[in-house]
Amino acid sequence: MFEPTATYSPNPHRYDTMTYNRAGNSGLKLPAVSLGFWHNFGDITPFEQMKSLVFTAFDNGITHFDLANNYGPEPGQAEKNCGLLLAKYFKHHRDELVISTKAGYEMWAGPYGDLGSRKYLLASLDQSLERLGLDYVDIFYHHHPDPETPLEETMGALAQAVDSGKALYVGLSNYDGPTMEKAAAILKELHVPFIINQNKYNILDRTVEHNGLKETAYKLGKGLITFCPLEQGLLTNRYLNGIPADSRIAHDPRFLNDSALTDKLHKQVVDLNNLAAERGQSLAEMSLAWLLHDGKVTSVLAGASKPQQILDNIGALKNTHFSDEELKLIDEIAAR
Ligand SMILES: NC(=O)c1ccc[n+]([C@@H]2O[C@H](COP(=O)([O-])OP(=O)(O)OC[C@H]3O[C@@H](n4cnc5c(N)ncnc54)[C@H](OP(=O)(O)O)[C@@H]3O)[C@@H](O)[C@H]2O)c1
Repeated sequence: MFEPTATYSPNPHRYDTMTYNRAGNSGLKLPAVSLGFWHNFGDITPFEQMKSLVFTAFDNGITHFDLANNYGPEPGQAEKNCGLLLAKYFKHHRDELVISTKAGYEMWAGPYGDLGSRKYLLASLDQSLERLGLDYVDIFYHHHPDPETPLEETMGALAQAVDSGKALYVGLSNYDGPTMEKAAAILKELHVPFIINQNKYNILDRTVEHNGLKETAYKLGKGLITFCPLEQGLLTNRYLNGIPADSRIAHDPRFLNDSALTDKLHKQVVDLNNLAAERGQSLAEMSLAWLLHDGKVTSVLAGASKPQQILDNIGALKNTHFSDEELKLIDEIAAR
């Protein structure tokens, strides 16, 4: 256990340059770049590395840390490590942070540790709060739709999370447009502050454009925070010349391995990298800027293994404008 008294003096200019976007029509603003805890906050990452990541993020205006009950390894460990960091360094900054967590994927054995039942969601939220050492999270998400549980039950559990004071807002993750619209209607009737969707979206993965989520979120005035905006690192310069020893594919291939690095993908990435260079950006910067260019994405939820990556990602905000020709070329490369 760490002493809760350790000091950390955040950069006094941390709010000077970050862009903050409102999550839909809500009152909550999120930084245009947020930090995800899916990787690099489990028990295979040194604590000093986690510390440097969160300090770099917060020192540069990233006020939003995104977690889930099952982030690890082992599941739960990312919340525990986040809890240690918050207790040790952010005691006086809790009100400057938006902490989110989720439940929906398998978390514990048996029929009550998975999917979308009221029983699972509310027990999981209690467990998350304990690991995080918090009284409440700012956003509690249902992690993915569960067709076996009535939507009314899952949404009722989210309502209870807010009513009990354990979550300030709720969000839905991995829902499609029509299902989200049905859920939104139930939550509206229950007066639940449903403010944001969390979905995968990047230059190469356009699912939210095809399943109605992006347009429905915009139409209903709900926010959209996009996960894997760099396709786990593939949409950066990381793998242009092979597999670096310190990359996700080399050291933590649970969700990304070398089978992703096809010749077709490599050619797409090379062409995107050339376009980014013409724009005076790194590929990571261009990939994030592209997500933010039409004003329909509240925040890009990027991961990082190194502080410099966070700084590079924030650099995306310097130029989020694209010409029609550039947008057409990006679409053409992505569609190959
Ligand atoms: N709701 C859901 O179902 C769901 C699912 C997945 C993720 N998420 C959320 O989304 C967050 C982000 O996911 P992700 O980590 O896959 O996102 P990502 O931003 O697409 O990938 C992050 C990885 O890309 C590399 N990278 C980041 N910035 C870079 C830069 N500037 N230059 C070169 N490489 C860079 C790093 O890989 P290396 O490790 O190789 O350096 C980093 O770990 C998660 O932490 C989680 O909060 C949600």
